[in-house]
Amino acid sequence: MKQLGLEREIVDRAVYERTVARFRDARIVLPTFAQLADPSRIPAEILAALRGVDPDAAHPLNLFRVHWYNDAGRRAQVALPEYVVLPEALTGVKARIVVALGDRFPMIRAHKVLAAYGCLAPRVVTGQFDPTAHKALWPSTGNYCRGGVAISRIMGCRGVAILPEGMSEERFRWLEEWVADPADIIRTPGTESNVKEIYDACDTLARDPANVIFNQFCEFGNYLVHHLCTGRALDQLFETLRGTHPALRLSAFVSATGSAGTLGAGDYLKARHGTRIVAVEALECPTMLLNGFGEHNIQGIGDKHIPLIHNVMNTDLVVAVSDASTDALGVLFDADEGLEYLRTRRRVPGPVLELLPAFGLSSICNVLAAISTAKALDLGEDDAILTVATDGAAMYGSERRKTIAKQFGGSFDAVKAGETCAQHLLGATTDHVLELSHADRTRIFNLGYFTWVEQQGVSIADFTVRRDQAFWRGLHELLPAWDERIAEFNGRTRLA
Ligand SMILES: Cc1ncc(COP(=O)(O)O)c(C=O)c1O
Repeated sequence: MKQLGLEREIVDRAVYERTVARFRDARIVLPTFAQLADPSRIPAEILAALRGVDPDAAHPLNLFRVHWYNDAGRRAQVALPEYVVLPEALTGVKARIVVALGDRFPMIRAHKVLAAYGCLAPRVVTGQFDPTAHKALWPSTGNYCRGGVAISRIMGCRGVAILPEGMSEERFRWLEEWVADPADIIRTPGTESNVKEIYDACDTLARDPANVIFNQFCEFGNYLVHHLCTGRALDQLFETLRGTHPALRLSAFVSATGSAGTLGAGDYLKARHGTRIVAVEALECPTMLLNGFGEHNIQGIGDKHIPLIHNVMNTDLVVAVSDASTDALGVLFDADEGLEYLRTRRRVPGPVLELLPAFGLSSICNVLAAISTAKALDLGEDDAILTVATDGAAMYGSERRKTIAKQFGGSFDAVKAGETCAQHLLGATTDHVLELSHADRTRIFNLGYFTWVEQQGVSIADFTVRRDQAFWRGLHELLPAWDERIAEFNGRTRLA
């Protein structure tokens, strides 16, 4: 599959040499994927130097923080990813919903910087991206373009964000501070589910050979970095919890799919624990559930297409969550009246309430889908459902203000807090849960044909090979091969 980020050998030697020189000058050392999966493998001298580096600075050493093992201050490394087990008082179900916290990632406070690195690093070390001549283009509906722009800036090259104009103000403000030129923020028509418009903009921009597009929806580096790094982090969380609760089963992994990169962790967990993989989407745009379309506000999870890197035939359930619920709960989890209600009436423990700022809209979506999964599958206290809080509430203050105006008549109070909790959290239903049969999987898989073969020119053979699980297992061999390339590249810059 050409242009899908699968090369393991050096493609262009001249580009490679120029990149080595740029990285040497800028003193950039690339972490290996093995180090990002298990940061205890990062050399002590790098960790010592990292201590003095601001986690929000465009500093090359911050690449060594692109993993799940940062503490709340994001300066120190921790032995276990930061997480919260949501209590029944909050979820209304006995199953243990375990959430890894993505706002511990550096620079963008969201897990998508990992995906950006997973797409970029293989291209850098195989001579496919020349930071001295190319611009890096990052098509995204959410945080991926922020991660990409951050990494581009570290490399001293132009990073261009391509995203729908309707995304949250906070995202645009962050981008305005980080891009080299305001023209490097390209606003495409529409909102969250207008992914096709992003592809169209990329098609036009790709005519300029100086533009290199890192397409997260079809770069297998995105799938692979989550398979290994997110998969291992979640596996370690589960094993730690099982240490004190030996009967615990890893019954489901839940992830709302934008590019479907994060879902790659599901393949890792399923291979070890037989975990069911739950793909989540917005009810207002039920692509997997109903071949549907529509607008929604669960920012980061796009849709109206099936990403090429989604291993559909290994997916077990589809759950749709309404943006009316994620918007309303975003307010409940932030407002003083909401927190007071959860503390006094629901008796949600203080340490859990203190972590609610780690839940942005798609993180809440993941929690709601986990609750619906627990109900649909009758899961109990011996069942763990793992998921991720992809980004925190800080990105959505402007969205909460809109929700208070639109859904709550301009103000939020204790009664509205009770109603919101009852309707959207405790009332989470199984109405939009589909346990996939072979025919369902095939239908969803086939839907991808229209994007990838008809629109994007992927060959039928490259498209259909993804039905076979042997294809995905074969992919897993790529990471060790890329790690060898990364070590060789670092050797050439003589920095590591
Ligand atoms: C906030 C947020 N949630 C969820 C996702 C979906 O993750 P993935 O693209 O790995 O499926 C994204 C992706 O950009 C995101 O930014």
